Amino acid sequence: MVIPMYSNESEIKAAGALIRAGRVVVFPTETVYGLGANALDADAVAAIFATKGRPADNPLIVHLAGISQIGLVASEISSTAHRLLEEFAPGPLTVILPARADLPRVVTAGLDTVAVRVPAHPVAQALLRAAQVPVAAPSANRSGEPSPTTMEMARQSLGDRPALYLDGGPCAVGLESTVLSVIHDQIRILRPGAVTEADILALLPDVTVHSIASGVGLADPARDGGEDGSGGRGFAMDPARDGGGRVVPAGAESPGLRHRHYQPKAQVSLWETAGRVRTLLARSDRTNHTVMVISPVSMKPAIDQEISQAGGRVVVRSYVDLAEYARGLYAWFAEGDDAGVATIIAHLPARDGLGAALRDRLTRASGEA
Ligand code: TXA
Ligand code: MG
Repeated sequence: MVIPMYSNESEIKAAGALIRAGRVVVFPTETVYGLGANALDADAVAAIFATKGRPADNPLIVHLAGISQIGLVASEISSTAHRLLEEFAPGPLTVILPARADLPRVVTAGLDTVAVRVPAHPVAQALLRAAQVPVAAPSANRSGEPSPTTMEMARQSLGDRPALYLDGGPCAVGLESTVLSVIHDQIRILRPGAVTEADILALLPDVTVHSIASGVGLADPARDGGEDGSGGRGFAMDPARDGGGRVVPAGAESPGLRHRHYQPKAQVSLWETAGRVRTLLARSDRTNHTVMVISPVSMKPAIDQEISQAGGRVVVRSYVDLAEYARGLYAWFAEGDDAGVATIIAHLPARDGLGAALRDRLTRASGEA
């Protein structure tokens, strides 16, 4: 298998043919790399679950070349859902719709709804056109590991199991898509991502947005589920919305949220102040292992001072803005795992913009969500 930097048209055509033949391929999207197979072929979709070691009760997102293909997998689309997709597709948005009766239920984990997304990455777009079928795809990692944001990360996680890897370079967003449930004018954010609550309210000022909160920094005692899906089902609500009164507690859930996700091998601890970094550094073993600290550039001088006082083996990864944090997070996790980092002391950003998605992934990674 020859793996070039950035796949060309003939490799993408080959990947499309493999998908039509029922095989599983890795491909880039603007959010994270996906592990795709023909959504209309139950055996091919079953191979995705086997390849990832994914619990069968966690449904997959179906990727389409354009919103005109939605009728291939969904039985209907509300005008609110349509407006959202018209605005944000192609892009990092997934919307849950009623599933067609003939869509294999292995895709939806038995649900009568289907998650659909139109990825913007040009390689993903070219692959979907070459495959000529809807492509079911979770993130291209073994279940429970952080999502890959480069082809190399995907290959480290999945090895020779997929039939082919397509390379599209590092992902521009770096965090998984926003997942929305839309019922009439009630929108639930099941997973925060780069399409934010503010983006949704700017487009649709009259809808109600319910946020399933995580990343609030509060432990949810009901949520302790493992990859076997046997665990908790409750969700902590966000007590501190400032979204202008239309943001209310959500009562529903996304099946994937009860599974452990996004965890590197290192223990992840979260900080908001330099004083907290001092405490966490003092607790860490900096003699036998390297500690990684993730910091905004603006706070790096204070953090560097804490590190030099603490001594030992400490590396810093810093980010200028939340977009850079989102792009870097999973790569830093992977880098830490490769280097035997046992402790990652990661900054918990404010909730604005991408901050909600980062807080969600960080609190899950820390085991606090
Ligand atoms: O950015 C992304 O969304 C990436 C790229 C590859 O597109 N995909 C991704 O897939 O993150 P995955 O399988 O790792 O996460 C899909 C999430 C899960 O939390 C799953 O439970 C939820 O979407 N989901 C899928 N179908 C659903 C449904 N019918 N109802 C509720 N939640 C659903
Ligand atoms: Mg995933």
